[in-house]
Amino acid sequence: RRLTRRGLLAGGAVAAAAAACAVPDVAGRAAAGSAPLPGGDAVEPFHGVHQAGVATSPQTFAVFAGFDLRPQTGRVALTRLMRLLTDDARRLTRGEPALADTDAELALLPARLTVTFGFGAGLFEAAGAGHLAPRPLPAFKVDALQPRWSGGDLLVQVCADDRVTLAHALRVLVRDARSFATVRWTQHGFRQSPQVRAPGTTQRNLMGQLDGTVNPRPGSADFERAVWVRDGWLRGGTTLVLRRIRMDLEKWDAADRAAKEFSVGRRLDDGAPLTGRAETDEPDFAALGPSGLPVISEFAHIRRARTADPGMRVLRRAYNYEDGLSPEGRPDAGLLFASYQADVARQFVPIQARLAEMDLLNQWTTPIGSAVFAVPPGCSPDGWIGETLLT
Ligand code: HEM
Repeated sequence: RRLTRRGLLAGGAVAAAAAACAVPDVAGRAAAGSAPLPGGDAVEPFHGVHQAGVATSPQTFAVFAGFDLRPQTGRVALTRLMRLLTDDARRLTRGEPALADTDAELALLPARLTVTFGFGAGLFEAAGAGHLAPRPLPAFKVDALQPRWSGGDLLVQVCADDRVTLAHALRVLVRDARSFATVRWTQHGFRQSPQVRAPGTTQRNLMGQLDGTVNPRPGSADFERAVWVRDGWLRGGTTLVLRRIRMDLEKWDAADRAAKEFSVGRRLDDGAPLTGRAETDEPDFAALGPSGLPVISEFAHIRRARTADPGMRVLRRAYNYEDGLSPEGRPDAGLLFASYQADVARQFVPIQARLAEMDLLNQWTTPIGSAVFAVPPGCSPDGWIGETLLT
């Protein structure tokens, strides 16, 4: 059942709390001529076994913010920080203003807002739990990583179907974190909106490819196994590898359609494998063309990226980025490749290693940022994110 802010407010406790702090209410907005549309009012539940923002059907906009902890932020301060962040995230995601919200009206249209927290290696050190920290990735020969897009002790991932809602939530959360941490980087991303592409259908990236066809489906047994950690403090959580991958779109423009399709092993128009007719057809990696060579090249992206066991795949929840133009008019564009998996070393690393070794797509793509985070489990209405590590 679809949750809406209006439904939550009608729920009682929240309504009483909202009335107590004189929060602008739905009726007030309606009277002012601003009755919310269903998309604006839609709520993604914050509480649960897992954090929202992973299995959640991707919203149109995302921002990933990486923080460095201030030197004095130790375990006790981290607990305070995560309680504060959790408290404001749970309010904002149900369309209520944050505790000291200076622009309360901006909180009233949650637009499927989710806030997801991740812990980088530095946070574990600061908490005296370095032995639990996620391992750094090995170096890959395709990498041209820049410190300004890499690393970070704490990740705040904010997603919403509305850019204004997103900007407000980010502002509130950054303010909460200010005395504990500084912003290392922010990376904004976008996807095709639900107005132009039905939720659940595959998106196009900025190279024009249908991107996300072969992905674990939320609710399936494969998804459960591939994405969620099953034991230890991270049980119910996952890990995130965030790679900023630049696309050389001018060079891509110069390639012909056949070369573009050959590099991936799928057609551009309908996303079907070169051996099939529909997007969801299984690729036939053994099929040979008239010249006796494989129809799907040995070096095609989908062959190199394939993991035979579906329960060992990664969840790709990528966003496009486009950060303006160079003076010559070249777009600074690419993919915020967000990969969620139970185990980075067993799932992500082997795929990335194969792609780094050989992948025709590498002609046009370059990883320029990289960060790894443990994404703690979700929490109950009186819990907070990170409690299984920090208490
Ligand atoms: C499949 C594009 C980077 C892993 C695909 C497909 C496209 C694509 C068009 C085929 C449709 C689909 O199944 O989604 C890109 C682009 C990238 C990129 C444009 C960089 C800018 C990566 C990276 C990884 C990765 C860095 C992992 C380290 C995969 C996997 C599949 C896939 C696992 C599914 C393969 C299968 O059929 O089993 N990608 N990709 N991709 N990609 Fe990528």
